[in-house]
Amino acid sequence: MDWFVKAFVKASVAWLAVGVILGMSMAIVPAWTVYRAMHVHVMLLGFVTMFINGVAYHVVPRLSGRPLWSIPAARWHWWLANAGLCVMVAGFWLRASGLASGTIVLSTGGTITTIGALVFVLQVWRTVDAPLSVRAAAPLVPLQSLRRSG
Ligand code: HEM
Ligand code: HEM
Repeated sequence: MDWFVKAFVKASVAWLAVGVILGMSMAIVPAWTVYRAMHVHVMLLGFVTMFINGVAYHVVPRLSGRPLWSIPAARWHWWLANAGLCVMVAGFWLRASGLASGTIVLSTGGTITTIGALVFVLQVWRTVDAPLSVRAAAPLVPLQSLRRSG
C-alpha cells in the first residue's frame, strides 16, 4: 500500500471516530443537534470522501493500467482535504455558537477543501488520460517504483 493511500484511509477512520462520537453526543443531548452540520461534514467529507479518495488512489492506476499522474499532488490533496475540513469544523462550530466570524472561517475552510477536491479531480482525470503503461497494471507494484511512459 502506498503511503498516501494509507494516509487517506487512516485520516478517514480518524474522522469516523470524531463523527460517531459527535453523532452519539447529539443523540444523547438533543440540544447539541445545532452541531448537525459539523457531524454531517465530518462524516461525508471526512470519513466517506477520504475513504473513497484512498481507495481510488490505489485502484484507479491499477484498473486503468496507468501510473498515478502526480504523487506530490496526492500529498497536497491530503493536506488540503484535512486542513480544510479542520477549518470547516471550526467554522460550523462558531456558526452554531452564534458567532459571526463563523462565516469567514467556514468560507476559508470550504475554499481549501474545494481546492483539495479539484486536485483530486485533476489527478484522476490526468491518470486515466495518460498513455498506457503495462507495468502500472501489475496489482501489487508500489506506485513510486513506476515511471511515466511519456
Ligand atoms: C454512531 C453513529 C451515528 C450517530 C449516533 C448519529 C447521530 C445523528 C444525529 C443525532 C443527527 C441529528 C438528527 C437531528 O437533527 O434530529 C444526525 C444527522 C445526520 N447524520 Fe448521523 N449519526 C451517526 C452516524 C452517521 C454516519 C455514519 C453518517 C454518514 C456517513 C451520518 C450522516 C448524517 C447526516 C447526513 C445527518 C443529517 C440528516 C439531516 O439533515 O436530515 N451519520 N446523526
Ligand atoms: C467545500 C465543501 C463544502 C462546504 C463549504 C459545505 C458547506 C455547507 C453549508 C454551509 C451547509 C449548510 C449548513 C447549515 O444548514 O448550517 C451545508 C449543508 C449540507 N452539506 Fe455541505 N458543504 C461542503 C461539501 C459537502 C459534501 C461533499 C457533502 C456530501 C458528500 C455535503 C453534504 C451536505 C449536507 C447533507 C448538508 C445538509 C446538512 C443538514 O441540513 O443537516 N456537503 N454544507
